[in-house]
Amino acid sequence: MRILITGGAGFIGSSLALHLIECGHEVTVLDSLLPQIHGADGRKSALFRRIDGHARFIHASVTDAAAWPAALDGQEAVVHLAAETGTGQSMYELQRYAEVNVGGTALLLQHLARQQGHSVRRIVVASSRALYGEGRYRTVDGALAYPSARKAEDLRAGRFEIYDAQGRAMEMLPTDEESLIHPSSVYGITKQTQEQLVMTMGRALGIAPTALRYQNVYGPGQSLTNPYTGILSIFSTRILHGRGLSIFEDGRESRDFVYIDDVVSATAAALLEPAAEGEVLGIGSGVATSVMEAARTLIAALGREVPVEVTGAFRVGDIRHNVADLSKARLLLGYEPRTSFAAGIERFAAWVRTQPLPDDGYERSLKELKDRGLMRG
Ligand SMILES: NC(=O)c1ccc[n+]([C@@H]2O[C@H](COP(=O)([O-])OP(=O)(O)OC[C@H]3O[C@@H](n4cnc5c(N)ncnc54)[C@H](O)[C@@H]3O)[C@@H](O)[C@H]2O)c1
Repeated sequence: MRILITGGAGFIGSSLALHLIECGHEVTVLDSLLPQIHGADGRKSALFRRIDGHARFIHASVTDAAAWPAALDGQEAVVHLAAETGTGQSMYELQRYAEVNVGGTALLLQHLARQQGHSVRRIVVASSRALYGEGRYRTVDGALAYPSARKAEDLRAGRFEIYDAQGRAMEMLPTDEESLIHPSSVYGITKQTQEQLVMTMGRALGIAPTALRYQNVYGPGQSLTNPYTGILSIFSTRILHGRGLSIFEDGRESRDFVYIDDVVSATAAALLEPAAEGEVLGIGSGVATSVMEAARTLIAALGREVPVEVTGAFRVGDIRHNVADLSKARLLLGYEPRTSFAAGIERFAAWVRTQPLPDDGYERSLKELKDRGLMRG
């Protein structure tokens, strides 16, 4: 197939591009080489160099209407990954997040809607677990609940878990695709709109759409220069600088860390598998890992002892827990995550050690949040 990958010079995109090329597909990448991900000279970034010479490359933004005709010409499928991806940053860079994630997607679909006789038959969009906000819970009475974003006064008082109206702690359940959509960040809102635009317009235009709601993806190739997202890459940079790790809340907040190879397999399967057409699928590891455990595992894998401090601070828009229910992806894609967190972290750490040590911009990114009242405690 001839496949266009937007954001194909990024972490997931470049890994997917190399896999699809290896499988014999012809890949075009459209990417703006965002300095936040690729550094000041994007053409020199390690991520870009992975695909350079292997995929046809178009250096453009998804927000540039003039770029779309050439990018889409002759393509049979589109994997739409280009996005602004920082949850915290999205809470003060609203216009940029809306313009790229929503506006860029609208331009892509508008071009397909206007151009009679285009060749695109499949479209896969990267969605996110951020759509679920706090996700799915069970009350002590056994009822299902979809709690709203946590209140600042609870977080300030160190009440980080999710409680019902009577103040009783609820039990987290894996989120399936039927779970309520109610994002707690601007990033999540833009990903929801992006997903809905693709699913609705894909069906309307006869271009079979699939949305993949990824959990926290990690592994070799993750941008090490972006201080705004990617907790494991942020931590690895701090550890290699010999700096301590500050863990938000009480360290027991958890994420579903899914290894890049599993995400690439799922995305390639979604693109090629007819059963995925018209479907929304959650992609993760199916395992919840606390941030504290993730930090300790990474420190051990990198073999550098640094202090770990639980700060009790919190960021507005962060969720407490999330883990994917993989039943639907298993059924429709035959998806099975193959890499355990322990094995994935070893491979990630081994790769990180081969990379130039980037500047540690994390403190700066936190200051931006603090200055705007979006990080407290
Ligand atoms: N990595 C994760 O944990 C995760 C989780 C859920 C969803 N996602 C989604 O998966 C997709 C890919 O994420 P990733 O981790 O590879 O991110 P990434 O930041 O590594 O890659 C994104 C790529 O998009 C490019 N890009 C950004 N703005 C652009 C624009 N205006 N025009 C063209 N290109 C642009 C960047 O230069 C970068 O190469 C995103 O849509 C993201 O929202 C990622």
